[in-house]
Amino acid sequence: MKIIVLVGSPKGDQSITKHYVLYLQKKFPKHQYVFFNIAQQIKKLEKSEEAFREIINEVSSSEAIIWAFPLYYCLVHANYKRFIELLFERKEAVNAFRGKYTLAISTSIHFYDHTAHNYIHGICDDLEMRYFGRYSAGMSDIMKDDKRDKFLKFAALFFNSVEKKLPTSKCYPKIVYPNPNFEYLPGELKIKEKIGLGGKKVLIISDVEKGTNSSLNLQKMIAKFKESFSNEIEEINLRDLNIKGSCLGCLQCAYDNRCSYIGKDDFIDFYDSKVKKADILIYTGIIKDRYLSSRWKMFFDRSFYNTHIPVLMGKQIGFIISGPLSQIPNLREIFLGWNEINRLNTIDFVTDESQNSEEIDDLLHALASKSIKFSEIGFINEETMRGVGGKNIFRDDIWSGLRFPFRADYKFYKKHGFFDFPYKKRKSIFISKMMLFLSRSKGFRKEINKRMKSEMVKPIKKMIEKM
Ligand SMILES: Cc1cc2nc3c(=O)[nH]c(=O)nc-3n(C[C@H](O)[C@H](O)[C@H](O)COP(=O)(O)O)c2cc1C
Repeated sequence: MKIIVLVGSPKGDQSITKHYVLYLQKKFPKHQYVFFNIAQQIKKLEKSEEAFREIINEVSSSEAIIWAFPLYYCLVHANYKRFIELLFERKEAVNAFRGKYTLAISTSIHFYDHTAHNYIHGICDDLEMRYFGRYSAGMSDIMKDDKRDKFLKFAALFFNSVEKKLPTSKCYPKIVYPNPNFEYLPGELKIKEKIGLGGKKVLIISDVEKGTNSSLNLQKMIAKFKESFSNEIEEINLRDLNIKGSCLGCLQCAYDNRCSYIGKDDFIDFYDSKVKKADILIYTGIIKDRYLSSRWKMFFDRSFYNTHIPVLMGKQIGFIISGPLSQIPNLREIFLGWNEINRLNTIDFVTDESQNSEEIDDLLHALASKSIKFSEIGFINEETMRGVGGKNIFRDDIWSGLRFPFRADYKFYKKHGFFDFPYKKRKSIFISKMMLFLSRSKGFRKEINKRMKSEMVKPIKKMIEKM
């Protein structure tokens, strides 16, 4: 069986994820494996039609495809995302993938690995591939006997499935653009009084592709949003910034937050002087496949030099998106998760999906108004499992296995009391232990069962009565 392995790490041959597949190659030598270091070679693939066609030809003549990628910001690396965009830009590429059996293998610290796999699964369904399943390995799992064994068994099932041509199910319906030619026509500002900034700094970040029709609605939505304010609002287009490339995965930043791109392009200066200094961030973009553009992905990946420190903590964030966001709940999940972990308050997502210009006008104005109001009272909404769970992953890993190399994170987490392990809740642990001891008595248990509900709510009742 000929298997094409699409490697999504910028580290190419040094990739941990690639080594997981090299291990499969060693254990299942009867198959032919063809590796492509996609994320590392994206510039070549963008420029050289020949290099890109070589991959497509190999895909055409293969029986199976393995997507082998590291997690990058709840998704895949920006360059891998760009490769996926290139596929959809070329019809012959889409045709080559159709009907191929496929397996998605990732390595990570399991932080939002589900959203990355949802994304790749969606892409496989869009390409009409036969998606067998996903294997989300921890970075070092391969060093453990039981994990290696499990990995091999899963791979064997995959190979068997391809050989026997077993059926596979679909998960994600195709994204439908109800009226792709919808033109947003902003109206007059209904409310005559403009919104004052009250000393707050609003920054709009966009990735508008000038001169293309696809960006027209977005451009008009941004302009309409700006119109609500009494002052000029700054907008920075990621496409105008001098960004030399995406994150290299070199981890040089882990020691002291110094990125290896320092002095080579404008990204770090832009992030430090603009993004970190704003009170209100408005991220704006166009849906491309099942995410925003790879340029936006590059923005997120490059911000890794701050590593796991919530440098945007306390800010308000809103989204203006052109495209069918409601059909991609995974994308909303990524943003909500990311905001919660970084202690940002999500104001709203405004899209042009309603295809109703008046409604879009109103929503944009409401976004502008809410952004200032929330910022004035410093409102950060309570976290859900997205934030609580995600923060605990970082806390545990930075305290243990990632303490080296992430020295800057460790110092920050220690200083700011982020190592809030449950074992430190001594009082509640003591009470729990005492109650467990007393529960050995049948009589006590009977009494507890009678009073459980009333005792639980008692202190809250008391507090409200006192108010
Ligand atoms: C910029 C960057 C972003 C990352 N984002 C995530 C993430 O969102 N979730 C996660 O679990 N791990 C994340 N990681 C960790 C990598 O996925 C992990 O180290 C992976 O095993 C690296 O594999 P590779 O050697 O094949 O590149 C990130 C690493 C980097 C450098």
